[in-house]
Amino acid sequence: MKVSREEKQLRREQKRALQRDRQEKRRQVLIIFGAGGAAAVAAGIPVVGVLLAPALTPSQTAWRAVGKVSDFQVGQTTEVKFRVADAREGQGVSSTVGAWLRRTSESRFVCFQMNCTHLGCPVHWVPSSELFLCPCHGGVYDQTGRNVAGPPRIPLRRHAVRLVGDTVEVQAQPIPLPGLNGPGLTGSDQRGAGS
Ligand code: FES
Repeated sequence: MKVSREEKQLRREQKRALQRDRQEKRRQVLIIFGAGGAAAVAAGIPVVGVLLAPALTPSQTAWRAVGKVSDFQVGQTTEVKFRVADAREGQGVSSTVGAWLRRTSESRFVCFQMNCTHLGCPVHWVPSSELFLCPCHGGVYDQTGRNVAGPPRIPLRRHAVRLVGDTVEVQAQPIPLPGLNGPGLTGSDQRGAGS
């Protein structure tokens, strides 16, 4: 069958229209993926920043005076309070943490973090039994902070301690987030002041 000239022309135009349509669709897909990718990257930047911040930000600590040496008796464990290392103006009571300071000799102190190493409840010092007790799930620590009963699997964490003249200073950490920025039990933590 013979195809007329007009029909040939019509088919050519249909073919061109089809190609233009395909190119337009391809362009739109690229635009969508490009915008989506940019949005994903933009949205991801804060998340990545938050995730990497602890690794990129140097650990912040600060020495805080908690009293005179003579305020503490050898063999006694006393609650002390001080401002966290990252305390800000107007932060109020949330910028203050408690800890248990024990004077073990004339020149040695150890300072235990208040938070249980199980799930972070504040532990209480019971002088009559010389034990730290956690009211939440019955965790028990001895006078050296060693976990001796209940769910805690590791000892109480410690703050480093130093003596500056006749002042006792403890090393404050940022607001404690159990498992994330606890100082852990390093060698210097365990030695305490005067060692
Ligand atoms: S939080 Fe202390 S025993 Fe669970």
